[in-house]
Amino acid sequence: MTVPPRRSGSDPGSGANPAELLASKSVLLAVSGSIAAYKAAYLVRELQRAGADVRVLMTRSACEFVAPLTFEALTGHPVEVEPFKADDAIRHVALAREADALLVAPATAHILARLALGLADDVPTTLALACTAPIVAAPAMNVEMWRKPATQANVATLMERGVRFVAPEEGDLACGEVGAGRLAEPGAIVAELTRAIAAPHSAWSGRRVLITAGGTEQPIDPVRVIGNRSSGRTGIALASAARDLGASVELLLARHSEPAPPGVVCRSAATVEEMREAVLRGMADADVLLMAAAVSDFVPREVAEEKIKRASGELELRFDPTPDILAEAARARRAGQLLVGFALETSRGEERALEKMHAKGIDAIVLNHPALALEGAESEVTIFAAAGQRWSLPRASKAEIARGILARIEELLR
Ligand code: CTP
Repeated sequence: MTVPPRRSGSDPGSGANPAELLASKSVLLAVSGSIAAYKAAYLVRELQRAGADVRVLMTRSACEFVAPLTFEALTGHPVEVEPFKADDAIRHVALAREADALLVAPATAHILARLALGLADDVPTTLALACTAPIVAAPAMNVEMWRKPATQANVATLMERGVRFVAPEEGDLACGEVGAGRLAEPGAIVAELTRAIAAPHSAWSGRRVLITAGGTEQPIDPVRVIGNRSSGRTGIALASAARDLGASVELLLARHSEPAPPGVVCRSAATVEEMREAVLRGMADADVLLMAAAVSDFVPREVAEEKIKRASGELELRFDPTPDILAEAARARRAGQLLVGFALETSRGEERALEKMHAKGIDAIVLNHPALALEGAESEVTIFAAAGQRWSLPRASKAEIARGILARIEELLR
């Protein structure tokens, strides 16, 4: 489970609007001992510009890099460093309870390890343990420290527990090396924090969402398959976006070319039959099905037991149509379940998408752009709902399209 590095200056992502969501929110900023500690001062400013009330907590080693006075002057609040001052223990717990979010930035390898272990040996770790609000961490360290399995395992553990990460950027590091390790830009960190604060208010929060992604493949002999060109990117982006909005996500993956996102339950469903079984099983307790997988429409009638030899000359295959998984799930649906299909058409897109939505008995269908949908990093879609709504999302990264799709489907959920 890894957090891919950010490209320097890359788009922090759309979605929640910081100006509205951070206004008058109480943010605890935990600064740990990295050379990037001074950048926390810019972060304070950025958070304040968005309207947040910021209180700073520092590890003792952070104080070697920046004086607490800097943050006291910027925030107008005392900086918390020492955990064992008289009558402070209770106040620390109260601070953690009152906060709307805890941001650990910069987060060193050491503080990530202590957070993963659940240690409470200074103010930031004690408050993190006592905190029930969302936690976001923005790591900064040497590239090798970031890549070390120990660090990555700690990140994975924290993500499993709901901590959100703003991955470090690639670039020149203070140690003279080049690689992933630079603290992300303040804009990207504030955007993630905003999403973390927004998630509990989203209609997706706490919903069980079943998502299929990738292209199913059917064997024709022990070494060959017939498949399609789906990369699985849209479905995987939907899984990350739904997880970020607080949903509990099960992702059923056929062949795909992107890594599965952390923080979601992931199962392999390589063939139509495996996908069918996994969808029907997953629907038992899902609230929403997003059927983004490119499911094979035909299966070879026979699968050769031995590898088919070229010397046998011409090869003729016969195919049978596959069962329509989405239509079957719709027929078996419980009241309150919402089903969304995805369509890709080379002509008469809108007409065919609408026909499919009605024929399959689903609540909405997302019509993909034929040239962009399969392998590219970007997409452009139109969403049609059975209740008559229609939304067009202009060309954007698949991550943004996924957030846009969920925002529209959220209207149907409410
Ligand atoms: N789908 C499915 N089971 C299948 C084929 C498709 O559940 N055997 C789902 C897809 O995952 C998608 C939606 O149905 O969400 C539409 O897929 P598409 O292949 O466009 O539709 P088909 O019904 O297969 O029609 P076509 O003849 O155009 O392929």
